[in-house]
Amino acid sequence: MIIGELKKILITGGAGFIGSHVVRRFVNRYPDYHIFNLDCLTYAGNLENLKDIEKRSNYTFIKGDINDVEFISGLFKEFNFDSIIHLAAESHVDRSITDPLAFVKTNVIGTMNLLNVAKDSWGKNFRDKRFYHVSTDEVYGSLGEKGLFTELTPYAPNSPYSASKASSDHFVRAYGETYGLPYIVSNCSNNYGPNHFPEKLIPLFINNIINNKPLPVYGDGNYTRDWLFVEDHAIAIDLVFHKGKKNETYNIGGFNEWKNIDLVRLLCSQMDEKLDRPKGTSEKLITFVKDRPGHDLRYAIDSSKINEELQWKPSVTFPEGLKKTIDWYLKNQEWLNNVTSGDYLDYYKEQYEI
Ligand code: NAD
Ligand code: TYD
Repeated sequence: MIIGELKKILITGGAGFIGSHVVRRFVNRYPDYHIFNLDCLTYAGNLENLKDIEKRSNYTFIKGDINDVEFISGLFKEFNFDSIIHLAAESHVDRSITDPLAFVKTNVIGTMNLLNVAKDSWGKNFRDKRFYHVSTDEVYGSLGEKGLFTELTPYAPNSPYSASKASSDHFVRAYGETYGLPYIVSNCSNNYGPNHFPEKLIPLFINNIINNKPLPVYGDGNYTRDWLFVEDHAIAIDLVFHKGKKNETYNIGGFNEWKNIDLVRLLCSQMDEKLDRPKGTSEKLITFVKDRPGHDLRYAIDSSKINEELQWKPSVTFPEGLKKTIDWYLKNQEWLNNVTSGDYLDYYKEQYEI
């Protein structure tokens, strides 16, 4: 496939956390592509994330909802996109527990809409087309103390979020098998880094430490996640998009497992240093709270396929990535203040009852 011919790339969810890093990377690295960022700007979407590239000639932002099939269809007619990198989603497990249907709507039906419109507007001519679906390792369910998720691990999602992502992964694969739609899926572990909405563990705790608020650790804190710096995920997406094999799945992980409580302690000690507070100050904020229902014990990814086929591996170590992340939040407190006012306060009150 000659990727130079792929001119018009539709990236969905490009105003969100990971999407904004992917959009920036593609706009900067590929001047011969035109990047269309389609995002309906939910609470998690923020055009401030892309201020630095918003005026670039190879970039267009389109405000629109993937649930609006007529709108999506019109867009395809107008721009005749060559490829899609699909990141738009409802992405927070806790919100999926309180409002599962919102996750079915966007993650399942929204993905179906994109698949249908791509299939119909590309007709039978799929040459050089690509539907890249960005997914999560959470579709595999939970690991015990040992083992890793490979691309062959059976799906066993436990939360409404992961069930909706699993469902969308299946539909993408089914469209490949049934209609010949050329697709790629990647399943990545937990990301962290700049522009992460402060409802997820790391940015939430950074914000709470800055504001001397309790750090609500679910259950006993002995849950394990495999953390990857967001720019390393964007690099992996770039590689998979350009060099990944058609109709394949790639697992992407950080080789970086942390129990939540150990991660939180590391974060606390780095924050004390940065904020010039006496050692141990932030740790005092740790508060064990009621566990998340259906909480997956452990996620860990076997990234050997992407490593061997595409020579990808994480470039940033966890302590380095965490430092960069903390520095970004401390330098961008206006961003943080803007996203933590308004609706965020209601969400916080309801979720944590604090
Ligand atoms: P995010 O919640 O930060 O961003 C999602 C973006 O999608 C937002 O900009 C939002 O406005 C947009 N969006 C939501 N519903 C939409 C709709 N109906 N139409 C158009 N736009 C809509 O999410 P994220 O963390 O950046 O995740 C991006 C993708 O990567 C998701 O598909 C997620 O499942 C996947 N993923 C995330 C992680 C992670 O750790 N965050 C890990 C692996 C995979
Ligand atoms: P999160 O960032 O929500 O990502 P995910 O659920 O997709 O893995 O949570 C990461 C881990 O941190 C998970 O085990 C739940 C835990 N957690 C807390 O202990 N307290 C919190 O307030 C949040 C948001 C998460």
